[in-house]
This record gives sequence, C-alpha cells and structure tokens, in this order.
Amino acid sequence: MKKIILSGMRPTGKLHLGHLMGALDNWIKLQDEYECLFMVADWHALMSEYENPIDLKENILDNVVDWLACGISPKKSTIFVQSHVKEHLELYMVFSLITQLGLLERCPTYKEQMREITNRDLSTYAFLGYPVLQAADILLYKAEAVPVGEDQLAHLELTRQISRKFNHIYRLEFFPDPKAVLTRTNRLLGLDGRKMSKSYNNYIALSEEPDAILKKVMNMFTDPARIKFTDPGHPEKCNVHSYYAVFAPERKKEMDERCRKSEIGCVDCKKELAQILIKYLEPIQEKRKGLLKNKTKIFDILAQGEKKAGKIASQTMSEVRKLINLSDFAL
Ligand code: TRP
Ligand code: SF4
Repeated sequence: MKKIILSGMRPTGKLHLGHLMGALDNWIKLQDEYECLFMVADWHALMSEYENPIDLKENILDNVVDWLACGISPKKSTIFVQSHVKEHLELYMVFSLITQLGLLERCPTYKEQMREITNRDLSTYAFLGYPVLQAADILLYKAEAVPVGEDQLAHLELTRQISRKFNHIYRLEFFPDPKAVLTRTNRLLGLDGRKMSKSYNNYIALSEEPDAILKKVMNMFTDPARIKFTDPGHPEKCNVHSYYAVFAPERKKEMDERCRKSEIGCVDCKKELAQILIKYLEPIQEKRKGLLKNKTKIFDILAQGEKKAGKIASQTMSEVRKLINLSDFAL
C-alpha cells in the first residue's frame, strides 16, 4: 500500500511562480510514489479573508486549473475542496477538545501573523485555531507525510502533538505521526527580494500575460552596486541572477561571467530573463486555456475527489466518534 500524503493551499488569489517552485513542483513529483490528496483549503482562506469580498468560487476554480495545467493529475491524485467534506470540521471540534490554549498562543506563526498582518482583524477564535483545523485536514486521512514549505513546520509540529495526545487518551497508534516533506531548496524570492507573496505584490502569476511579465521583470531589483554599465556586477547578490539559476540553469554560468566582466547590461539581462519566463509559462498557459473551456469538467474532477476523500473521512470519523464516546443511537 502506498503511503498517504495530504497537502493544501488557501484559495486567496492567483497562484504565482513561488507556488510553482515552492510547492506544486513537489506535489507533481510525489504523485507517482504516494497516494496523494490535494486540498483547496477554503475554510483556512476565510479565517483571514472573512471580511474581504474575495470570490472563493472563482479562486478555487482558478487555482485548481493551475494545478491541473502544471501537472497535477486527477487520475493519480485526489483533488477536493476542504469545505465540501464536512468531516474536517467535525474532527477539528474533536481536536479542539484536547488542544491546550497555550500551545496555540505560543505557536510562532500565530505570533508572527498577529504582529505583521495589520490590515485584517485576526484576533478571532477561529484564527487561533488555524493549526487545529490543519491537523484535522491531515489526520482525517491518516496522512503520514505532508509536503510543505518551511513556514508550515510549526503547524506540522502541532499536528504531531495533537495526534500523540489523541492516541494517548483514546487509542495508541490510532493516528500516525505525520512528517514534513520539505520542498527542495530552489527557493524563489519575490521580484523585490522578499518572500514572493500576494500581499507584497511582488509576484508573477502563472497566468500572467507576456507584456505584464516583461514589465514586472524590468522593475526587478538588481545588484545595488552596479549603477553604470561599466561597473562590474555581483550576480550572487542579484535577484535577477537567482531567477536564471531556477529557470535557465544552462545559461547561468555564461550570464554570471558576462555580468562580472560588464559584458552585459542589466536591461538586456532582464529582457532575456523575461523571454525565458514567458517561454516557461507558455505551455502551462496553453493548458489553462484549454481547461477553462470546459469548466464542468473541472467541477466533475472536484466532485469525484470529494467522493473519494469523503469515503476515507467518514470512515475515520465513525471510528473517532466511537473512541471519544459520542453516543450512537443507531439500533
Ligand atoms: N496552512 C497551509 C498554508 O497556508 C494550507 C493548509 C491547510 C495545509 N491545510 C493544510 C497544508 C494541510 C498542508 C496540510 O500553506
Ligand atoms: Fe543582475 Fe544581470 Fe544586472 Fe548582473 S547584469 S546585476 S545578473 S541584472
């Protein structure tokens, strides 16, 4: 039997190159080796966006289309929407019974977000419980591995603590001890050198039009010490160069040398990078267009995923209900 993997993304906006390089490429590779469940975490999106008029349905469709266009295969993997499988909330409640408040209050991601996100009111009951729902997402399917970025490690640690506590109280070895599958280190920074993120507006969307890509690349930060063409560049300090390393590794060495010897200017270096990115995204965007012509098919894929996920979920929950002693009046 293949091991089970679960991962999720919040449908808060368009997917970008950071998602592709940080998560999706990993998901795609894992599909053959594991039994994969890929989930659109719409409840988690609402935990921060409950006041914002984001179009969840539109975002979910758009994100799933990107997943498929990049190579997530509904034949190999189960693709579904979190809120469509109601057991997530049921297990979330069960875990809420046994999760110490202090554990959540001390969670580093919680503290960081409370400090840094100032344009939303996150001082809610649900937001504190964000990692509890994430633990439910994972353990509902008894997933043993979770592909995530480093920013999610604290949540995974909480998942393990909840799993162990449940097992300790109710039944040893009922839930697994899920491990992180870390994304390879090919980290892609945003256009301004910070983490690529929607909220920093420093991203290139997977569906970005070619002229928008060119414009964004032309505005990228470069080696700050290189002001005139004749100043020798330091490609190791240049974000543009790190994009070459990811998207055109075969061009990296040559560009490195030409930059150091002032044989190429930043404008030309960026123009070439823009073309590389446009070419890179072209097949994905072609596939996207094809998929968007038949939205019913996308909703079918989600309905099938929901059915498959729902089966496992209801099995786990019926076991859990017994273990925690919820009354069962079935005769
Ligand atoms: N918290 C994750 C993120 O922001 C999304 C997520 C929700 C998730 N549930 C999950 C990731 C379960 C892995 C497993 O990226
Ligand atoms: Fe960066 Fe290219 Fe300019 Fe060198 S030439 S500093 S690698 S943008």
